[in-house]
Amino acid sequence: MDKFHIVGGNRICGEISVDTAKNALLPILAGSILTNEQIQIQNITYYSDINSMIEILNYLGVVVKKLDESIILDASSINRFDIPQSLTSKLRASIFFIGPLLTKLKRARVSYPGGCSIGSRPIDIHLNGLIALGAEVVEKHGYIDICADKLKSGTVHLSFPSVGATENLIMASVKLRGVTTLVGVAKEPEIVDLCNFLNQMGAKINGQGTDVIEIEGVENLFGTTYKPISDRIVAGTYLMLPLICGGELVINNANYTHILPFYNLVSNNACNVKAYNDKIVVLCNRRLKSFGKVETLPYPHFPTDLQQQLGALSSVCKGTTIIVENMFENRFNHVQELTKMGANISVKDRVCVVQGVKTLYGAEVVAHDLRGGASLTLAGLCAEGYTTIIGANIIDRGYFQLEDKLSKIGANIKRIINN
Ligand code: UD1
Repeated sequence: MDKFHIVGGNRICGEISVDTAKNALLPILAGSILTNEQIQIQNITYYSDINSMIEILNYLGVVVKKLDESIILDASSINRFDIPQSLTSKLRASIFFIGPLLTKLKRARVSYPGGCSIGSRPIDIHLNGLIALGAEVVEKHGYIDICADKLKSGTVHLSFPSVGATENLIMASVKLRGVTTLVGVAKEPEIVDLCNFLNQMGAKINGQGTDVIEIEGVENLFGTTYKPISDRIVAGTYLMLPLICGGELVINNANYTHILPFYNLVSNNACNVKAYNDKIVVLCNRRLKSFGKVETLPYPHFPTDLQQQLGALSSVCKGTTIIVENMFENRFNHVQELTKMGANISVKDRVCVVQGVKTLYGAEVVAHDLRGGASLTLAGLCAEGYTTIIGANIIDRGYFQLEDKLSKIGANIKRIINN
């Protein structure tokens, strides 16, 4: 595992640009196998999760051309429907291939997916949705075999608005004859982006961004060039930099409407935050007030993926913040690490109580999961003295070349490569 070495206490100053959304790219890459024509994805960001996804595309027989700013995919000679454990264990998004494989080859075989250890993360909603459409699912020897010979359009009610299940069911339905209605779906901007991409390929999807999505099956999907949205979680994390360290930051390629609950929390606080069409400008010279009670819930509510970073920020605010994590049962692994740095935080079940302190102190800490790692980076940047974060590679899953970007805006952070 690589490490980040941080010398805390520097003000943040300058401009930073948000990369393309990891969580939009992942399902879009999976969806690119739905056509035999060429797909080009522009503004690609090679987060390590994206590289893991590309490994799966290669394994399936997709011809992938990695360019600096775009990626070209040709799935015309795809020849496998199975994804082995060695690849699925790297990231949960490997299951996004189930829907596209069923549409393309009528079969999919995957083992249970990996990903950040933030809870049990079952895939029952994905499988139950597919079964409701007629799929046959057999689980054996750690593999799940799914057959789509009897798949038919119909209506599926999701028991919870799962992001991944919504995306999988959309991709399993795009070519089914008739209309498929998905009720109680997730509404995240990344889902809307996936639907826009698929519609550009010739799909007929309506209702994305609402609770009900309707998919009218089409015979064929075609090649296209697509530019996905920017990463709202990265934007939110960058927004916290001047809030926790003090300073002035222009965040380019950021859409504040995608992080509205967080944007509203901070723009009502003791700092100057302004949003424009595609950028956010922050000026902060004072210690912030605490945030009261913040609960994570499906979009458009406060995102679970910003909860851990908010924990770091709250730990140096004036007063008490209560964070309730409703999405994942085990997303407070970063708390014991923040405590090593002097934070005053207690956790009981899904509730985290943060009593703000004036100063955090550098320490050696461990990144247990992606957003937890981002939280520790924020804490290290504002702490007095030296912080070492073990597990920089975990942060690479969703932040691209973070140390270079932060160094350019005043932070003192270096990667120590572990060979
Ligand atoms: C996606 C995001 C992830 C984010 C999460 C919630 C991607 C690649 N990842 O993950 O960053 O944290 O949404 O916003 O887009 N669940 C089940 N059964 C299922 C599916 C989900 O019980 O079949 C549960 C999960 O364990 C979790 C909750 O539902 O507690 C939300 O999961 P889901 O929305 O599916 O998240 P992901 O798609 O895995």
